Amino acid sequence: MKHLIYTIFSEHKNIVIFLHIISAVIWVGGMIAMRFAAHQSIQLIDNVPEKIERSAHALKRLFSIVAPFVIILIITAVIMAVGYGFRTAAVGPNGNVLNDYAMFIYNIVHVKEAIWLVMAVNFLAMVIRRNKAAKLIANGDLIAAASTLKLIAKYMVPLNIVLGLIAIYLGVFLRNAY
Ligand code: HEM
Repeated sequence: MKHLIYTIFSEHKNIVIFLHIISAVIWVGGMIAMRFAAHQSIQLIDNVPEKIERSAHALKRLFSIVAPFVIILIITAVIMAVGYGFRTAAVGPNGNVLNDYAMFIYNIVHVKEAIWLVMAVNFLAMVIRRNKAAKLIANGDLIAAASTLKLIAKYMVPLNIVLGLIAIYLGVFLRNAY
């Protein structure tokens, strides 16, 4: 398996990095556009049922576009993490630390993995929440639907934007690490 990943990375390095970066662009950029353009615009709709329906629909479109890129991002991340040999440079065969700087860089890779995990769980929670809001809208319970969607706009999307920006910065850091 490791050998296959090395081969994929050495033969298709540009494609792997491109797919990683474009996934981050679509995921994080999509959330920024949704929160600071679409959301602000939808808030200007006077008709309350229409406003709530538009919000749920716009989120559905965003989430279905982003979902494949959440997966592409982690696949390319694993290929890069193995392909660059961060662990091999940092840890010896007996689990001993070979080099302090390499270990520090390897830990940054772990931080990025943890960020992806939190972002992916938060993303899934948003999908579930939006589906719940869509059901409430279908049942005519607009007040409950509005409060269900509010949490997504107020905390969940901003959380993923902040974590995404940190992950992008750490990506630049890793690129320049050696
Ligand atoms: C899942 C764990 C992750 C790992 C192991 C990982 C690993 C890496 C590595 C090794 C690079 C350097 C590539 C190069 O040689 O140029 C990189 C770059 C990058 N990463 Fe990640 N990454 C992860 C998650 C993420 C996440 C969650 C995002 C954003 C949502 C992200 C966004 C980026 C971006 C935009 C770059 C390009 C930076 C540049 O080329 O200057 N990464 N990542």
